[in-house]
Amino acid sequence: MLNDQHRNISHIIVFNGVKLLSDLFAPLALGVNESYELAVSAEGRVAISSQTAWGALRGLETLSQLVEYNFTTDTYSIHDVPFRMEDAPQFQHRGLLVDSARHFLPPIRLKRTIEAMSFAKLNVLHWHLTEDESFSMPSSSHPELAEKGAWSASERYSLHDVKDIVDFAQLHGVRVIPEFDMPGHVSSWSKSHAELFDPRCLERSRRLAFEPTKEVFDFLQGLLTEWATGVFHDQFFHLGGDEVPFECWERLSVSEGGKTYDTPPKLFRHFVGSMFRRVTGPLNRSAIFWDEAFVSADLPAEAVVQVWRDKKTLVRAVQAGHRALLSWGWYLDHLNEDWQGMYDNDPVGGVPEDQKDKVLGGEGCMWGETVDGSDQAPTVWPRLAAIAERLWSAPASSAAAAETRLGAFRCLLLRRGVAAGPTMGQGRAAPPGPGSCDQRSGDWGQLA
Ligand SMILES: *[C@@H]1O[C@H](CO)[C@@H](O)[C@H](O)[C@H]1NC(C)=O
Ligand SMILES: *[C@@H]1O[C@H](CO)[C@@H](O)[C@H](O)[C@H]1NC(C)=O
Ligand SMILES: *[C@@H]1O[C@H](CO)[C@@H](O)[C@H](O)[C@H]1NC(C)=O
Repeated sequence: MLNDQHRNISHIIVFNGVKLLSDLFAPLALGVNESYELAVSAEGRVAISSQTAWGALRGLETLSQLVEYNFTTDTYSIHDVPFRMEDAPQFQHRGLLVDSARHFLPPIRLKRTIEAMSFAKLNVLHWHLTEDESFSMPSSSHPELAEKGAWSASERYSLHDVKDIVDFAQLHGVRVIPEFDMPGHVSSWSKSHAELFDPRCLERSRRLAFEPTKEVFDFLQGLLTEWATGVFHDQFFHLGGDEVPFECWERLSVSEGGKTYDTPPKLFRHFVGSMFRRVTGPLNRSAIFWDEAFVSADLPAEAVVQVWRDKKTLVRAVQAGHRALLSWGWYLDHLNEDWQGMYDNDPVGGVPEDQKDKVLGGEGCMWGETVDGSDQAPTVWPRLAAIAERLWSAPASSAAAAETRLGAFRCLLLRRGVAAGPTMGQGRAAPPGPGSCDQRSGDWGQLA
């Protein structure tokens, strides 16, 4: 590293603006071009060019991280000028799952999360909205779902809240993909709609699964249509498919279109196939499912598989023709896992060369059992930044080489008001004693 005498420093920063090469109106969608070129002259003239507004946004984020404030001269400066850099993401889908159902996450908490995601150039908020425990998603056609299913009268979203979050995310270059987990993880729906379940299942099981009948599919399609037209405009909907409690279907037999489905695996295939057709057909959306739907339910090849249980499944999914997302190894609620392991988790490791482009990227998963507004940020950060760098840069080197950079990024998060935990230690760590963030030292500790 050069010391200051040898560095060129520009104290005058003239922002020459952003030049869009084309495509000003390219919508924020999977695969949109996020690349940019950033140039700063010796005199401090800054120019960003990009093909889309989303690339310009990434370039502006980089620029904001290069500018430093000098307390002596009361000026802002950029070091090591002149320079010109080209930057582009390696993976198109770089996300965070948030679970607002195990604990309710108020809109302001989600917005803070989205804003912090944009600092790390993440571009997908996977919003796990419904669960066994609670149902806080509003519906105009079926307001009773949240009236009865939410944790309380105030722990709910209004339609205005949800639209506002989607708009806010868009302004930060973040797509919102809603997840309506089904056919399992749906107990909260039974509080207002017992008819969606086999009565024997309601009687004997705490964990419920929808009854895979045409009436239930029609009901779900109606709701998803309402949410797809009025609220969530992303091309993708996540339909869950994980941890289906098969015991709910043990004595169930369903007939549709001249066919009979009379074992839990057959009923699961029937459910996944039917909902996939309804979402991709009438709703014109693409669908993502958790890996169980690939392993056990003959998922159609156009569906995207999100892998969480075992990395080998990702290789199998892409070889079977699916596009896939990695979340295995990136469970942020696993507090004993450190950022180094997450950094070194390569989504295309073990994937044959000619299949690598089917790996769209991945997501850190912030399951909400032990997370609410009080501890969400330090559980997510800084480990999500390690995942974000893995997904943006696909670095050839391992975590050791990223340590200084990640430490500096964590200090940036703190300066910007994000409650990111220290890089030493595991998830949701506290600072070990007095000390500097930038120096990551605890000299004062020696006084004790
Ligand atoms: C994105 O746009 C840049 C600038 O026009 C171009 O060089 C690059 O090839 C594009 N990337 C993709 C993946 O299309
Ligand atoms: C701030 O500017 C002064 C005067 O140019 C310089 O001596 C000092 O090293 C600068 N501080 C930093 C942190 O760059
Ligand atoms: C379906 O969605 C695709 C991708 O978002 C879009 O290009 C197409 O125009 C849509 N078709 C209809 C009929 O709305």
